[in-house]
This record gives sequence, structure tokens and C-alpha cells, in this order.
Amino acid sequence: MSKKKTPPVIQFTDVLGQLPEGSGDVLELYMLKKGGLVKVSGSEELYIVSDPVYIQQVMQKDTETYQRRGRYVDYLLRVLGRGLVVHNGSLWRNQRKRIQPQFHPKRIYSFIPLIIAETKQLLDRWEVAAQKNKTLSLNDDIMGLVLNMATHILFSKDFSGEIANTLNAVKIGNRMLRYKFILPDWVPTPANIRFKRALKRLHHNFRELITERSAATNKPDDLLSLLLEAQQQADSDITDEVLMGEMQTFLVTGHETTGNTLLWALYELCRHPEIAEKVYTEVDTLNGRAPELADLDSLPYCRMVIEETLRLYPPLWALIRQTMCETELGDYYIPSEANLFVSTYAAHRNPDYWPEPHRFDPERFSDENKQGRSKFAYIPFGIGPRVCIAGGLAMLQAHIILVMIAQRYRLLIQSFNPVNKDFFVTLKPREQIKVKLLRRGS
Ligand code: HEM
Repeated sequence: MSKKKTPPVIQFTDVLGQLPEGSGDVLELYMLKKGGLVKVSGSEELYIVSDPVYIQQVMQKDTETYQRRGRYVDYLLRVLGRGLVVHNGSLWRNQRKRIQPQFHPKRIYSFIPLIIAETKQLLDRWEVAAQKNKTLSLNDDIMGLVLNMATHILFSKDFSGEIANTLNAVKIGNRMLRYKFILPDWVPTPANIRFKRALKRLHHNFRELITERSAATNKPDDLLSLLLEAQQQADSDITDEVLMGEMQTFLVTGHETTGNTLLWALYELCRHPEIAEKVYTEVDTLNGRAPELADLDSLPYCRMVIEETLRLYPPLWALIRQTMCETELGDYYIPSEANLFVSTYAAHRNPDYWPEPHRFDPERFSDENKQGRSKFAYIPFGIGPRVCIAGGLAMLQAHIILVMIAQRYRLLIQSFNPVNKDFFVTLKPREQIKVKLLRRGS
């Protein structure tokens, strides 16, 4: 390493009071002021990466140097458990290889009837609110919907009685992470106690599921059967902690990300009636019938709405990496054990790649407009070997659910103030999104 050229620096004190809640916006600000690689300096150093060239190096070219580990990953353990997101080395490679087939396109297409049936149930439940012109909050309904789908897809189990507890555990867990900077786990704060209780119940449910499944003669082909079978192989690397960790990881990642994407998409449609109108025109070509796999290609605008939502509101707004040795990123020196945030949020708002970056415009994702854009400028599902394992499933779910909601209802927003962004593990709406439903079609 010839010369040690440091990336543009920002003092940590500049972010005090803004982190963690406003952190995504702060990262965008740094990019605008200092460029696509910024060193945040202070009691602890943090590197913010948002330029596609550096993203390519970190996420795809030098993946042995930049690994997903360090104290920011340790924070995630509490909400996610010890699963695929936090593994490294041979355990990660083995688990990724084992689990990958569960998300093969052919297999995920088999979930379409389930996605349709669950969505229809929610839309039927909404009928009463529509008829009575009642205001409803979308947040828990949409999260509950995708969580219920996740439990069917991953564990072939109807968890509907436990949805509230699971959502609650994740909600408190997220909230607690916010304060982890201040108070350690063992302090018996009310939030710590409530979280432990909710998590205990979730783990109890997992144990019951495991016992039930181990005793079953006809085992469904799902993630749980796959993990249990792999655990029984000689020399298996799946400990009980890893088994439970995978269950927790997939249950949480399987609903938080897709649920928040849908919430933001619906919110943006409420705010842009002209875009919503285009969605209605497109979904009306189905004449009221539920979408089938073959229809999805003829519903490109709805897909573009989701892609644009993932640009402006990437659920994983900062991807965590740590250097395994000292290295160079572009021309810049990065020391060993440096923590990096690869910020999807900032990258997706880079005006060099996204003119008028704050404008919600699904046309950015038309075939024509996508031409020539660096694939490292848009990475809502990550990129490289640790790319999201279930991106195809998430897009399929979000596409079908959005189409079905638009077929049945026009959503009229009742929240007069803009909904704020809450940056924590995922980027979620901080307030309830309140709407009235106007019945459309049959
Ligand atoms: C819109 C929905 C989703 C988005 C935007 C999303 C985004 C991402 C991103 C950005 C990563 C890479 C993180 C990194 O490189 O540090 C990732 C990894 C992962 N995602 Fe997703 N995800 C979504 C849906 C899902 C679903 C539905 C599941 C499970 C059913 C899931 C499970 C995972 C897992 C297990 C990993 C870790 C993969 C590995 O490290 O090998 N995700 N996701």
C-alpha cells in the first residue's frame, strides 16, 4: 500500500442528535456534500459507501475483505436470531446452499394460490370498513398479511393466532435496538422485559412446531423440514441455536421487508392520484379476476411502482460490512476492522443517476429508462454473493398484493401530515397510514 489517502471526512459530532432516527437522511446529506465514500470520524469510525463503483468493489469484487460482521451485525442478532443473515464462513456457505432451492422460481410460483387466497381474505375483511366509510390503519393489516403468508410458506403453518405477538416482539425488538446505544440488555427496563416475554413465547411456538414436525409422518416440503433433515445428518453444523435462529431470521426478514415496501407503495399511490389512475387502468385489464403467473408480465406498471418504492424506501437502507484486513477502496486507504455502511438509501438518491431523486416516478423503471444504468446504482436486494435469498418471492408477493388491492379499492389517505420515515433495522413508516376505502369494480 503506497500512500494512505483518507476518504473525505465528516466529524461524528455532526450526526449527534440525528442518529439513529434520521440516519438515512444524514447519509444522503453526506453523499451530497462529500461524495460516494465518506469517513465519519469520532469515537468510532464509520465509512459510508454510496457510489456504484465502490459498491461494486465492496459487494462483489472484494467480498473476502468486506464481510458482514462487527458490532452493528451483533445488534441485529437480538431481532433476527443466529441465522443466515449473521453467519459467515463455512456455516454461511453450507446454509445458503441448503436453503437456496426453497426460493427457486419454480417453487415460489407454487405459492401464488396462497398469496391470492390470503390477500382476498384481507380484502373481504376490509369490505365492512368500506361500506361504513370507516377510517382504517394499514400498518398492522399489511404486516399481518405478509407475516401470515411467511408462516405458511416457511413452516406450512397457520400462525394467525400468534400474529399479534410476533409483530409485537419485532416491534419492541426494533424499538429496543434504538436504545441499545444507551442501555445494555440486562437492565430490566419495561421494554426489555416485554421483549424477553414476547421472544420467549415466539421461541416456545418454534419449539412446538419442531416437536410437531419431527413426529409427523407426512412432512411438507418447506424450510422447516429441510433444516430438521439437515440437522440429523452426521456431522451436521446446525445446532439447536442455529435452527431456532434460522426460523426467527426467516420469519422476521420474510415479513418486515415486504410489508414495509407495500406500505410505502400504497402511501405513494395515495399521494399521487395520477400514478394510481395508471395502476387502476392496468389492473382493470384483468376484468376483476385474480392475477395468474402468466398475467404478471402484462402488469408492468404495477411492478414499476414497487421498484420505484424500493428505490425511495429500500427496507434495508444500510448494508453492514467490516474489513478483515487493511485495504484500498478505489484510491482510498481503509484500515482493518473498519465498519462500513453501504447505503442503499443514499445510493438510490444520487442525483448523478436519478434526476430529481426525491420525485416518485415509476417510469424510471420502464425497459427504455433502465437501459445503461449501472446495476450497482440500484441495489434494494443487495448484490453479489450475499444478495437477498428471497428477492424473487418478495417481488412476486408485492406485485400480486398491490394488483389485488388496486382491483378492489381506491385508497383515500386520511393522514394530513406526511408520514415520517423511521430508520432502524428496516425503513418503516413511523406513523399509522390511515385511509378510507372506496370500492372499485367487483
Ligand atoms: C422487499 C423485500 C426484501 C428486501 C428489500 C430485501 C433486502 C435484502 C438485502 C438488501 C439483503 C442483503 C443484505 C446485505 O448484503 O448485507 C438481503 C438478504 C437476505 N434476505 Fe432479503 N429482502 C427482502 C425480502 C426477503 C424475504 C421475503 C426473505 C425471507 C423469506 C428474506 C431473507 C433474506 C435473508 C435470509 C438474507 C441473508 C442472505 C445471505 O446473507 O446469504 N428477504 N435482503
